[in-house]
Amino acid sequence: MRGFRSLKLSLRFVVPLVVALGLLAFAVVPLVDNLTLRWSVRDMDVRSQLITSTLQEPLLELLPQGNRQKITTLLQRATQDERLLAVGFCNQEQKLVYRTPAFPAEISCRSASDETQKSPHLITLPQGPVHVSVNAIEQNGTQIGSLVLVHDMSYMVRRSADTREYVIILFVVLGVVVSLITVFVAHLSWQGWMNGVRAMLHGEGILKPFARQAVDSELQPLVGDLKTLMRSIEAERRLADDSTITWSPDTLRTLLHKQLTGERVIVVSNREPYIHSRVDGEIRVHRPASGLVTAVEPVMRACSGTWIAHGSGNADRETVDANDRVMVPPNKPEYNLRRIWMTTEEEKGYYYGFANEGLWPLCHIAHVRPVFRTGDWEQYVKINQRFADAVITEADSDNPVVLVQDYHFALLPGMIRTALPKATIITFWHIPWPNPESFGICPWRWELLKGMLGSTILGFHTPYHCKNFLETVDRYLETRIEHESSTVSRRGQLTMVESYPISIQWPPPWLGTVPPVEQTRKEILSALGLPPDHLLGIGVDRMDYTKGIPERFTAVERMLELHPELVGRFSFIQIAAPSRSALEEYQAFEGRVHALAERINTRFSSNGHPTIILKAEHHEAEEVNRYFRAAQVCMVTSLHDGMNLVAKEFVAARDDERGVLVLSQFTGAASELYEALIVNPYHVEQTAEALYQGLFMPEYEQQERMRSMRAQVRDFNVYRWAGRMLLDAARVRQREKLAMRIAQNY
Ligand code: G6P
Repeated sequence: MRGFRSLKLSLRFVVPLVVALGLLAFAVVPLVDNLTLRWSVRDMDVRSQLITSTLQEPLLELLPQGNRQKITTLLQRATQDERLLAVGFCNQEQKLVYRTPAFPAEISCRSASDETQKSPHLITLPQGPVHVSVNAIEQNGTQIGSLVLVHDMSYMVRRSADTREYVIILFVVLGVVVSLITVFVAHLSWQGWMNGVRAMLHGEGILKPFARQAVDSELQPLVGDLKTLMRSIEAERRLADDSTITWSPDTLRTLLHKQLTGERVIVVSNREPYIHSRVDGEIRVHRPASGLVTAVEPVMRACSGTWIAHGSGNADRETVDANDRVMVPPNKPEYNLRRIWMTTEEEKGYYYGFANEGLWPLCHIAHVRPVFRTGDWEQYVKINQRFADAVITEADSDNPVVLVQDYHFALLPGMIRTALPKATIITFWHIPWPNPESFGICPWRWELLKGMLGSTILGFHTPYHCKNFLETVDRYLETRIEHESSTVSRRGQLTMVESYPISIQWPPPWLGTVPPVEQTRKEILSALGLPPDHLLGIGVDRMDYTKGIPERFTAVERMLELHPELVGRFSFIQIAAPSRSALEEYQAFEGRVHALAERINTRFSSNGHPTIILKAEHHEAEEVNRYFRAAQVCMVTSLHDGMNLVAKEFVAARDDERGVLVLSQFTGAASELYEALIVNPYHVEQTAEALYQGLFMPEYEQQERMRSMRAQVRDFNVYRWAGRMLLDAARVRQREKLAMRIAQNY
């Protein structure tokens, strides 16, 4: 197959070559004919002169005697030479007086002498071509006649035919030899090129300098150019994608259909998008407070497929089928939720222990010490394997597209890769990635990194997290890193490390269905027993130490110290969904938050209006949206956060183009929402000042800032986040298919 392909390719060179040689042969044959003729004629001329000079003397003797018999015999003897056909003697009056019997009747003395004026004195007679030469016979310097010699030239026709045959044979042999050499050389260099291109497609040629040896030396000068070309094409495509695509569920669906030939995607996350619980004997379903779920759910609805997650609700088992599957959303089923079960002990080790006491504080610089226990690690490995097995069962091909979510599954990409080497695995790390020193304290750092490098694409929110990850890999693993293309190569497996800032659904699902902002504000204020002109701030988080809730409260307190006129005129509503409450760290944190709120409220309880309204319970998205619309300022003061979607949800909620966002500089969102009031939450005065500025910002300024942020969230919505990852995955799949085809064919 391989040989046949290169033969086919070399035929493209050989056919023109054979045609050229054929044309050359056609030009050469008449040339050779002509040369042969000229040589033969010259030969005949010389022979004729020789014969004449041999005959001259006896002729001069016999002519005066007029002895016809003797003269004819003399002439006839000369014709014993096989090529000399006939000889005749012409007298001074141009009369043929003596001739041998075979002298052609068509030739006379005059015609013969006319003929000799021409070159190459050839006449074609019925018996064939003849050479005619007329040579003077002189006596004492006076010409007494001339000898006409007629040579048979048919041998020349034979010789010419032979020559032509030789020339043609020569060219055929030449053609065959040259073709064989061409095919051979083409085959060798094609092989070399293909190896080189293959190496480049695998990224070897574009990785570190020593790997360049993998590319043939002839290809070496082109590596740079090919590399640049490939990059610029990719960059142009990406740019074109970014600027021309309006990302929506439809765009995503089309993308899957066209670029990924309708692949059903498999999403894996720990947290499930719908939790079934039994409350007062009734099964209720609710959406958890999770940025991950907020982002991935609309994508999943657009793409359909299967979402594999931990079944954590106490009524989850009652709602699945025999294969542990349930179609969701419950009111409009669009995709499959496949639930994975775990025992309390497994959950304790894998989720609470390794993921949330180990990796969570390890990746967030929030000054909480990570705890690593071997028992937790063992459960983490076990549960990762359980999810990997579920992916393998759910995959309906040997190359599924799998979207692995977050730090709960660092080992999953490697496990899936082992079972399904051709799978396209997109892993997204929803939390920050620390610097190599911080990460280095994890006793299982190598295992985690190796597992993650089973991914085809590894996504982080920001380029900064990508950089940290690449530096970590560089520090602890034997890999090749191409910083220019942000690619890690380990044991032949390539992982592209890229930033994909996550976002939310746009347009928001409630658009056009909610009452105007003024009405919502009035309703909320009255429900809280606050006067209509009361100022509101809002914070919405999980009850987590990374979110900077105490820092936020302290900033509120500081603002009231600096602006006492606001005491009793301003309240800050904090929605804090309970989270990971089985962990001591979280229980203690919740306790601190409650105590701080109480202390501040006690301090500023002037006219009975609480300063901090702490709602430490789960709120559904619609309810949260109402608070966003009612408040003047939203505060996001995370100490460290991958992205923080609350910031974007607040912006999306404000279709009135009013409201101010105070945003921590330590969130991923701060590098997208420039028009927010960016603060360092550790700096109490600065945060307090921003809050005050937000409450009293002129309307036109609020509008300008909000309009700009809304445009950003609209254009860079969650469909773009998923779409860009899937587009990149489609490109990688195309490249791998091409590399595989080359490998099969050559
Ligand atoms: C963060 C994590 C998510 C997680 C969410 C809620 O956003 O990145 O993976 O789902 O917090 O946390 P929980 O532990 O309740 O799932």
